[in-house]
Amino acid sequence: MCGIVAYLGKKTAQPILLEGLKRLEYRGYDSAGVALLRDGVIHVTKKGGRIKVLEGILEEPNKSDTIGIGHTRWATHGKPNTTNAHPHLDYTGKIAVVHNGIVENFDTLKIWLRDKGVTFSTDTDTEVIANLIGYFYTEGDDGKWKKQTDGQNKFEWSVQRALHELQGTYGLAILCADYPDILIGAKKGSPLILGVGENEYILASDAAAIVEHTKQAIYLSDNEMVTISSEQFSTKTVDNVEVTKDLQEIEISLAEIELDGFECMMLKEIFEQPKALTMCMGGRLDKQNDKIKLGGMDKYLHDMAGMKRLILTACGTAFHAGLIGEFLFEKLLRVPTEVEYASEFRYRNPIIDEGTFVIAISQSGETLDTIAAIGEAKEKGATVIGLVNVVGSTIARETDGGIYLHVGPEIGVASTKAFMGQVAVLTMLAIELGRRKQISSDEAKMYISEFAKIPDKISSILQQSEHIKEIASANITKENWLFLGRGFNYPVALEGALKLKEISYIHAEGLPAAEMKHGPIALLSDEMPVVFIATAGPQYEKIMGNISEVRARGGKTIVVATEGDDKVKPYADHLITVPDAPEALQPMLTVVPLQLLAYHAAVLRGHDVDKPRNLAKSVTVE
Ligand code: M6R
Repeated sequence: MCGIVAYLGKKTAQPILLEGLKRLEYRGYDSAGVALLRDGVIHVTKKGGRIKVLEGILEEPNKSDTIGIGHTRWATHGKPNTTNAHPHLDYTGKIAVVHNGIVENFDTLKIWLRDKGVTFSTDTDTEVIANLIGYFYTEGDDGKWKKQTDGQNKFEWSVQRALHELQGTYGLAILCADYPDILIGAKKGSPLILGVGENEYILASDAAAIVEHTKQAIYLSDNEMVTISSEQFSTKTVDNVEVTKDLQEIEISLAEIELDGFECMMLKEIFEQPKALTMCMGGRLDKQNDKIKLGGMDKYLHDMAGMKRLILTACGTAFHAGLIGEFLFEKLLRVPTEVEYASEFRYRNPIIDEGTFVIAISQSGETLDTIAAIGEAKEKGATVIGLVNVVGSTIARETDGGIYLHVGPEIGVASTKAFMGQVAVLTMLAIELGRRKQISSDEAKMYISEFAKIPDKISSILQQSEHIKEIASANITKENWLFLGRGFNYPVALEGALKLKEISYIHAEGLPAAEMKHGPIALLSDEMPVVFIATAGPQYEKIMGNISEVRARGGKTIVVATEGDDKVKPYADHLITVPDAPEALQPMLTVVPLQLLAYHAAVLRGHDVDKPRNLAKSVTVE
């Protein structure tokens, strides 16, 4: 949600900023801009629209510009237009700011600044930050804050002074016209990483903008800032207390974030799922001893196997993975499990008794709703486990223990391989806890061995991509779709509907198949395709009954069934098959055709799959 990149070094800054913005565009793409500092003047170029629009209006790079900041925006305050695009200059023109996050008290601060004669020219909360810094930089010490310490520059002091007034969240990169070789970054609630190269620094909201230049980085924590000069950088709290940060290796590679011959990242990531799942399993399946090894969990597994209650919390696709987790934990561990939308969790005063564990699930590890839910759970004394993909992210750091998904970076805004990783990790955890508590060793052995076969089974489903494209094409004019499943495949129906909505802008509902007759059946007509997940399992006969109910009313069915099931053929206007698997492992198979269906529908409708309307990859606002 908003991408920030900043550069200070010896190279020409503009192309580096532009390249960085392109790598961060999945975080937001309403508008973009850069600011370069040259001869004591900050030059801002910004424009509503995508990065390529900005690229079209930028002047030729000037080799003497070796410091600058850039931003790609996902609008919160103020329309997505050129005026509201970042970077924002303060009223004196000396301070330039790019920002990711929300200033909650921006109204109050704006009134306060206006009373002092400060003028505003945008509708954004970010301009308040620029103007606050500019105000303190111009007016100096007001006696309410620490004086500049010996050797501290006025720029850094003014930033600290301004941050002291802000409520809300920020990842910031800031320039000051009077300090041509200083770049300042600060973080609270929004990620900020400093890439440390040879004679150069790249400050960014995401490692994707850094990895091309260096793999050495420091990850700022909340309420920390970094002051970077051409020679060195120093990290401190926003209260000016020095902090020592260790350099860490960025784990992602450039190849992982490039298209590699695919038309878009979403398609690449769908096709990467066999490999991603294999990476996720890597070293975790101990087939000799019929166990699962989950490194970061050693300390908690014993207590979790005996827990009284489990709460899973997440948003969006990760929430759907959580729903599958509910089925898994109840089946394999026999523990009462609830799944809560993270955005609702902390506002309902959740009951957390002794013996309750909370699992937070997130691809990015930066979703603010999920972070807030974790805070609530911890405050109530729960042990919180994080299932996260992005290494070193806020959720990974703020949870007591955790399991990384290890599916590689996910760039496509519509989550696919991360969902696979989330379900896989939940499956491994449920098998291991179940093995410790109540399932037989034969059952554990069967699950581990069947789980290991899933990547190859996904590969065989992917071969049906062209067939699925034909199904999408045959239904492409339909504006309303239903997705129905039962048991473990009910959350998959929700996920199929979400994927279709997100990227093709077709209205879709996911439901437990049997719920259809309690209301939604009234919607049925031959204008509404109904996607059924009707694979082999305990509810097979029941769902065949639901398919009959749809067909009897003229509904058109797209059925995902198990390979070799001949009985289903007369029930399906369009049939997609998946290999057989135990019911508890089926979601990792049945979701794949639904991802492809949504992808092809979106492409057939002419949409930009990796930049769906109004969405951003990581939602760092509440
Ligand atoms: O990074 P997270 O997994 O915490 O993100 C949660 C949701 O915002 C995310 O899954 C969203 O629903 C995706 N766009 C779904 O494709």
